[in-house]
Amino acid sequence: MKAKAGLFRGARPRALVMLCALLAQSPAMARGTGFRLEVALLAQETHRAQAGDRSPRLVARIRSDLGVLGFEARSYCERAGCATAPIKTRIRRARTALRGGAMRIVGHEMRALAVAYPFDLRGLVPRRLSARRIREGRFLYAHLCAACHAAPGAGNPAPDLFALARHEGAAGLVVDIEAGVRGTRARAYENPLNDRQVASLAAYLLAPGSRPDPSLRPRGGRGGGG
Ligand code: HEC
Repeated sequence: MKAKAGLFRGARPRALVMLCALLAQSPAMARGTGFRLEVALLAQETHRAQAGDRSPRLVARIRSDLGVLGFEARSYCERAGCATAPIKTRIRRARTALRGGAMRIVGHEMRALAVAYPFDLRGLVPRRLSARRIREGRFLYAHLCAACHAAPGAGNPAPDLFALARHEGAAGLVVDIEAGVRGTRARAYENPLNDRQVASLAAYLLAPGSRPDPSLRPRGGRGGGG
């Protein structure tokens, strides 16, 4: 919970007020996508690691996400009526493999889970990058994200979302947004945006030629992290 205070320290009050207003809707809770989202995220993270990113930060994230996956699976299966044993076996194999540095096996197990329990992207991936969507996305970005994300780099852990969009493509980006908006990945930080808002943000970040607007940078040139 230490990260919580640090995370919000740099945010503009206005962004926080809007976040709180949006949190009241809490659509992700209603979606009940915790387990499937976490699986999609882990598949993506391990893919990134297999593609060569072995930063301690990414590996630590994979470890901590794997750490909570068993709990997610149990509460998911209680509702959905599935058997947790085969899921837990894969999680256990992945955790052992991670300890041994065998990222290929971790990736294999997470992809197998992602195939069995796909995350539903309908409504989240923008079908068209229409001007209206992009406008809405720009508004959301400016008011809810830019305070932390518009000045990545030195001392600011919040990544450049435009670079992330180019790198991940639409499907990967919306999985990251769904998971990343929670910030600390703590359960209390479910994604506060509704599906349409996620699609609009993705449209804005994916639109050709989209890049951070310098006018959105926090004064002083530094972002939220500190
Ligand atoms: C209070 C600061 C803050 C705000 C506001 C904020 N973020 Fe973040 N965000 C962060 C930090 C810090 C991280 C890095 C967390 C980590 O590495 O574990 C992050 C991570 C992310 C990631 C994950 C990137 C990855 O590497 O997987 C995404 C996606 C993301 N944020 C999207 C958003 C969007 C979209 C908004 C606006 C709706 C937003 N964030 C608002 C601070 C913020």
